[in-house]
Amino acid sequence: MKIITIIGARPQFIKAAPVSSALKQQGINEIIVNTGQHYDFNMSEIFINELDIPKPHYNLGVGSGSHAKQISDIICKLEEILLTVKPHAALVYGDTNSTLGGAIAVSKLDIPLIHIEAGLRSFNKAMPEEINRVITDHISTMLFCPSNISKNNLKQERIEKNVFVVGDVMYDIFKKWEERFNAKNKYGDYVLLTMHRAENTVPEILRRRLAQLSKLTLKIICPIHPQTKKILFQNEITLPKNIQIIEPVGWIELMGIGRNARFIITDSGGLQKEALWLNKHCLTIRDQTEWVETIQQHVNQLVKVDDNISIPDIRKGDFSNPYGDGNASERITNIIKTI
Ligand code: UD1
Repeated sequence: MKIITIIGARPQFIKAAPVSSALKQQGINEIIVNTGQHYDFNMSEIFINELDIPKPHYNLGVGSGSHAKQISDIICKLEEILLTVKPHAALVYGDTNSTLGGAIAVSKLDIPLIHIEAGLRSFNKAMPEEINRVITDHISTMLFCPSNISKNNLKQERIEKNVFVVGDVMYDIFKKWEERFNAKNKYGDYVLLTMHRAENTVPEILRRRLAQLSKLTLKIICPIHPQTKKILFQNEITLPKNIQIIEPVGWIELMGIGRNARFIITDSGGLQKEALWLNKHCLTIRDQTEWVETIQQHVNQLVKVDDNISIPDIRKGDFSNPYGDGNASERITNIIKTI
């Protein structure tokens, strides 16, 4: 059996790692296509190297650009590869432009499309990711959900066939590498911050977010996404004194920084769950989240742009993991084999 996997943005390298290894164990031939949406070493290759992902067979080199350009380049370039490789099925992950571009090219050639991390919804169509995930789910042949809530979201949209709740593949990789997160604490007493979402990097909003974060009487360590860095620089926005910027780091290092932090502030999807697994409280600097189970567990809290921000009331060890048992990849590959 021959499967083509389409990845290209930072979180997809991480999600693909455990699935790739499970596919290999099952003797399934996997051809990996990197769209090249993320191309800086610290945004792409670092993950491929540290997480033992097989080197991608193809790189579409689409790079940065408008969403229309990025998605259409992926569709056109991927189509040629799909016609050459002739896979039995294709795998896409999450909700980025690489997910949607991949999904359209695959489904237009009538190749079975498998979506991992299906059924997530923020119900906010102003988010580019929401458009990507809704369309991808509606054209997928097989859908793997991390939780019952995501399965139920699909049911509300009348997607009920070939939907499987398997857990979260990110928890698989978290469990596998957890022992390696014991990095020495380089920063003392601090909060970990990541902020890169389109809604937070509009200059005016970014200014307000920084003013909000300056009210925290704690040191904040922030590995900076190149987009956030660019907006800060282009708009001559100065950082509050309590925020210390560092270069983007690999995933294992990020988990180490998270483990040593007092708590975590983020607009990333992945880090909201990783905070829960790291036994840390999370403040999500967004208006809504797809990962509603973390809110229900009282370990994550939404902070809107003009809300007062304060140090959360940290409770430890009184929550459970709503995202499976660390064996999602194995479940997924066992089901894929039946195609
Ligand atoms: C994308 C995803 C987002 C995900 C994030 C993870 C979409 C619509 N969004 O957002 O869901 O959470 O990846 O990081 O797909 N840039 C560089 N070097 C790089 C990559 C990007 O400098 O290697 C800069 C470029 O200026 C680019 C900007 O970052 O224009 C935005 O990159 P892009 O891939 O469009 O979206 P992300 O913000 O990374």
